[in-house]
Amino acid sequence: MRFRKLRSPTSVQWELTPNCNYQCIHCYNHWRTCGTASTHIHYGIVTKQLIQNHIFKVTLTGGEPLLVFSEIKPYIEQMIQAGIRISINTNAALLTQEMAEFFKNNNISLLISLPCCIPEINDKITTVKGSFEATVSGIKLARKNQIPLSVNMVVTKLNKDYVRDTALFLHDELGLNAINVTKASRPIHGSSQFDDYALTLTEFRKVLSDLIFIKKEYSMFVDSLTVYPECSCESLETFQEFTQRKCFAGKTSLAIGYNGDVKACARDSKSYGNLSTKSLQECWESMEDWRIIDIQKLPQECHTCDSCYSCLGGCPIDSCNEIPTKCYRDKSNIPVPYETNFEKPFEYSSQDTFDVIHDLLFFEEDFGMRGVNSLKDSFFVTHSLHSFMIKYPTFSKEDLMNFFEISSEDADETLSYLIENQAIKFI
Ligand SMILES: C[S@@+](CC[C@H](N)C(=O)[O-])C[C@H]1O[C@@H](n2cnc3c(N)ncnc32)[C@H](O)[C@@H]1O
Ligand code: SF4
Ligand code: SF4
Repeated sequence: MRFRKLRSPTSVQWELTPNCNYQCIHCYNHWRTCGTASTHIHYGIVTKQLIQNHIFKVTLTGGEPLLVFSEIKPYIEQMIQAGIRISINTNAALLTQEMAEFFKNNNISLLISLPCCIPEINDKITTVKGSFEATVSGIKLARKNQIPLSVNMVVTKLNKDYVRDTALFLHDELGLNAINVTKASRPIHGSSQFDDYALTLTEFRKVLSDLIFIKKEYSMFVDSLTVYPECSCESLETFQEFTQRKCFAGKTSLAIGYNGDVKACARDSKSYGNLSTKSLQECWESMEDWRIIDIQKLPQECHTCDSCYSCLGGCPIDSCNEIPTKCYRDKSNIPVPYETNFEKPFEYSSQDTFDVIHDLLFFEEDFGMRGVNSLKDSFFVTHSLHSFMIKYPTFSKEDLMNFFEISSEDADETLSYLIENQAIKFI
């Protein structure tokens, strides 16, 4: 199985610095053990490459990106000017009023790491005393400035029993109605110290069931920010909620390290070139190994599994890097006893009319066109559908059916896809 190669990625994670004010025990940054470095690639080189390659979604991460706020600020302004949507992964401890105003004014969203609602446990995880208060103050400041934000709690044995309490804390004390809870995956070159903290499959499943509880009982939105093997789920609810996320590394996204190394994923260590000597395009081209799915390269138990093509073995970094005794694949759960709940597209009537959104951007791909909507999300259409959208800025379902000689069901599917991607609107 081979994924299509896009001309460039649609989103990028950019690690601005290796340095951090915390030293979280779970942190995936493999270079953390190599000490801290003070130099990074010139931010102008990366910014230029991002703009030239029509990348419209950039997540700034690290290390701690707020440590280099004053240095990166002019380049953020250049990216915003070029229409790039920026988000920042941060522990928020260093957030100031000046930064908050800048983020608010530029529609920059934050993903804030908070390991636990119990200060002592939180500080044990970050290894910094006072980090709980610092991060919570950052969250409050971001809320006061109405910055769009969500919180990510990375879970190990140390905080696994506080998932529900942390959700309640966010809800009751900080006024948030969503939580991301993500299993700590083993850092590449992780030490045996991490292995002692890693969740077992049973503990991991309890965390997922806590998330379902939080969703139902506290009416909060829940998510988990990594890719889990389908057989790791022991209920239909957790399967449907937490196994639909897929790995986009090397397919639609890549990561740029602080030194300019281009990687398929921020958590990987393999470099496909450095932006000081190669273009982003060249590095992207050479990531072909991430686009070819060879089932034989998946873990042994996946080879004969019926779900292998939808699941792909979970997160590829996890599956080659996991701790043998803490494997998240469950052979006794194969064949996977759950089915994905595909929603049927809405049925439109033939006279229903649609407007093509006027500020869409389109870029040529080998197989059609990549569209970019106002949220800077990408979607894909054939050349002929693109021509149709240009020729008929307002059209009915019947127009679409007649033009492409397609059935009502096929037209509904196309219309639903375009509506979901905010490429057209129903009028
Ligand atoms: C490496 S951090 C860098 C940004 C910032 N310092 C922070 O902590 O949010 C980027 C994201 O990865 C998450 N993360 C770190 N180590 C992880 C691990 N081993 N497994 C899963 N997520 C992890 C963090 O919680 C954060 O959301
Ligand atoms: S705050 Fe972020 S970068 Fe720093 S150690 Fe923790 S997870 Fe890693
Ligand atoms: S055996 Fe492998 S492919 Fe099958 S569900 Fe488990 S992780 Fe996925």
